[in-house]
Amino acid sequence: MKYGYFDDAAREYIIVRPDTPLPWINYLGCEEYFGLISNTAGGYSFYKDARLRRLTRYRYNNSPLDVGGRYLYLRDNKSGSYWSPSWMPTRTKLDEYECRHGQGYTIITSKFNGIKSSTRYFVPLGESLEIWQVTLTNESRAVSDLSLFSAIEFCLWDANDDSTNFQRNYSIGQVEIVDDVIYHKTEYRERRDHFAYFACSEKLAGFDTQREAFLGNYHGWNQPQVVETGASSNSEAHGWQPIGSHHVKVHLKAGEQKQIIFILGYHENPKDDKFDPPTSQIVNKKSVKPIIEKYLQPANADKAFNSLHDYWTTLLGKFQVTTPDTHTNRMVNIWNAYQCMVTFNMSRSASYFESGIGRGMGFRDSNQDLLGFVHMIPERARERILDLSATQLKNGGAFHQYQPLTKRGNNDVGSGFNDDPAWLVLGVAAYIKESGDWSILDVPVQYENEAGSEMPLYEHLQRSLQYTLDRLGPNRLPLIGRADWNDCLNLNCFSDTPGQSFQTTTNKDGKVAESIFIAGLFVLACQEMAGIAKYKNDKAEGNKVQKAAAEMEKTVWASGWDGDWFRRAYDNFGHVLGSKENTEGRIFIEPQGICIMAGLGVENGNAVKALDSVAEHLATPHGIILQQPAFSQYYLHLGEISSYPPGYKENAGIFCHTNPWIMIAESIVGRGDKAFDYYKRINPSAREEISELHKCEPYVYAQMIAGKDAPTHGEAKNSWLTGTAAWNYAAITQYILGIRPGFDGLEVKPVIPSGWSDFEVVRSYRGVRYEISVKRAGAGNAVSLEVDGKSISGTIISLPKKETSTVRVKAVIR
Ligand code: BGC
Ligand code: NOJ
Repeated sequence: MKYGYFDDAAREYIIVRPDTPLPWINYLGCEEYFGLISNTAGGYSFYKDARLRRLTRYRYNNSPLDVGGRYLYLRDNKSGSYWSPSWMPTRTKLDEYECRHGQGYTIITSKFNGIKSSTRYFVPLGESLEIWQVTLTNESRAVSDLSLFSAIEFCLWDANDDSTNFQRNYSIGQVEIVDDVIYHKTEYRERRDHFAYFACSEKLAGFDTQREAFLGNYHGWNQPQVVETGASSNSEAHGWQPIGSHHVKVHLKAGEQKQIIFILGYHENPKDDKFDPPTSQIVNKKSVKPIIEKYLQPANADKAFNSLHDYWTTLLGKFQVTTPDTHTNRMVNIWNAYQCMVTFNMSRSASYFESGIGRGMGFRDSNQDLLGFVHMIPERARERILDLSATQLKNGGAFHQYQPLTKRGNNDVGSGFNDDPAWLVLGVAAYIKESGDWSILDVPVQYENEAGSEMPLYEHLQRSLQYTLDRLGPNRLPLIGRADWNDCLNLNCFSDTPGQSFQTTTNKDGKVAESIFIAGLFVLACQEMAGIAKYKNDKAEGNKVQKAAAEMEKTVWASGWDGDWFRRAYDNFGHVLGSKENTEGRIFIEPQGICIMAGLGVENGNAVKALDSVAEHLATPHGIILQQPAFSQYYLHLGEISSYPPGYKENAGIFCHTNPWIMIAESIVGRGDKAFDYYKRINPSAREEISELHKCEPYVYAQMIAGKDAPTHGEAKNSWLTGTAAWNYAAITQYILGIRPGFDGLEVKPVIPSGWSDFEVVRSYRGVRYEISVKRAGAGNAVSLEVDGKSISGTIISLPKKETSTVRVKAVIR
């Protein structure tokens, strides 16, 4: 069953009923100011950091689901009846409802009692504010006398404190209401130099800034007393819960239309110019006023919206494909690329599954997120790489996370995830392959954000690889540390205390447990490093990493191969995991993917063997399961992985992030049908028809789909912020379609399904437009290329001359 449909021409998903199985959300903002918005206008906003600069409050895990948002109430002043044009929170049965999610904007349109309302929410480029553009149309035959109320609840900035420290919070809230603009200035009197504002384009009939005055004691958001009575109370918040609500009276003749604009924004003043007059406690509004005035004008709001739309047209235009498969086209051309941008911006911090107070930017996550995003805005990937590497530890290790506001490593989580540093090498390689910007290697970057510790980024990469070599275990495989990519495989944790964090508890010295996943990742990273060293003319480094990779590969064959698949790890007792010797956890997906991506077993046939084992033991119609058989109980020596009931998350869930590794591996061994089949199984658009089972949004990937051991097999969770986005984008564009950026040029080497006769791609690469058409002339994967009318040998198109603007490529597959 579906709850909406795709409009690919408009690049929108259109939800046609408000009661989706879960809130189906979208993101506003793509630079510094961000918002989450659901299909019923739920969600919240923040500036840069969802924890430290939260503008509006949200209550997680609520019942009903999704309370708190950008709410509007319409009231018919003759009858006294009122409704929410976004359905929530009043849940009045609307005569019409539609929510359009697009790139960086959401439009919610509905009709009730002849009044049509359409609200466009978006964040203009270059600004720290969001616009709600409301258009009301009287489609009835009578004159209507309406009241429109807006409502948001301010968060007292630090979202964690805001939801815990009430003995203080209930006394610190402060607002100002000046010229009909509501200013939220809690803590501005002391160390903050920022405030929020909420403004409206119309003359107000009233306002409210104290929550209980607006709602009425013991009322919910579904029944605000002020809306019931039709009159604001003009309340001024002193402590308790500051909110922002405007009241606008609207008279509409039959057929008449009116636009009303609200803006909610964040503003900073210079530390020494916070107050006006300077000796007062009144917010200096000089620099914010022109911004407010500007965007309350419909023409300026429209212009800002059009710029945002053009911006996305340009970004998405960097890679457009036409294949025989609609799901592929719309995911690659629109939604997957868009999700990559969102995951890049948010990392794993703020979604409807991540509270925004828990996690900052992950080291391994951000390096992987780059892969799906770097072709759209390489400059921002560059900045991210430099921020990440500045948190790197001197021993080559990494802080597992950093806070986006401070850009400093997060001490609470610390380090010791032994895969982390290797991802930096992959991230940097991807950036250089895309941009050709070799200069990044020479940028002096600090270690541990310490002034004076600067070394060229190239040196950081060397230390990253050395980190693994300095930590080899009894089998000469890499020691796993706290965990590798699988955060829940905690082989040194041994936690028997309830509530202890699996991520940070370590009870063993870590000198025994080893990871075959890191071994594969290391080989892959060494190959990238060899490419980089070659360019640097650094033969010593090139030889060193090639030798190290070859040795590691030998080690994998000696201790990491199980006969039919790659093993997963050795535990603290030196016992193997991911082997026929195990009764549970006999085969894991991660080492099959990563080892084959590093080329292991491609020559000797073991890669195909391992992939056949994946198909036999792990594949389901809903995707490939992380591991089998599921752990039936908690194992002290395995940690969090066995804490999940079978079929969920890392304990045998379909952990979607890992599926594209298998798609890539299948393409590497030349099995296009298999690769594409796996691609389709988790493609959200291809799962749209089973939305009532899948539950999450059909336009973005979710982190997990319940595995076959779970009673809810096929049900997705944790949508939006997942490495699945970047890796699926890489799998389909770089391996199945085979358009792959390299150090020396763009490679075209598709491994497509046998049923495809052709496809076309337009791709920008290093400032040049590549128009690529691919035709199948035989059943194999052999590719011959014609570039601007001339055949070339091999599959890599060398970089064109400087003045070239377009390159035309014809590929024939036989
Ligand atoms: C989850 C992992 C996640 C980790 C991060 C665990 O509970 O299962 O997927 O990476 O938390 O802290
Ligand atoms: C989610 C984390 O963000 C990611 O870093 C990790 O690799 C996966 N979970 C698997 O545990």
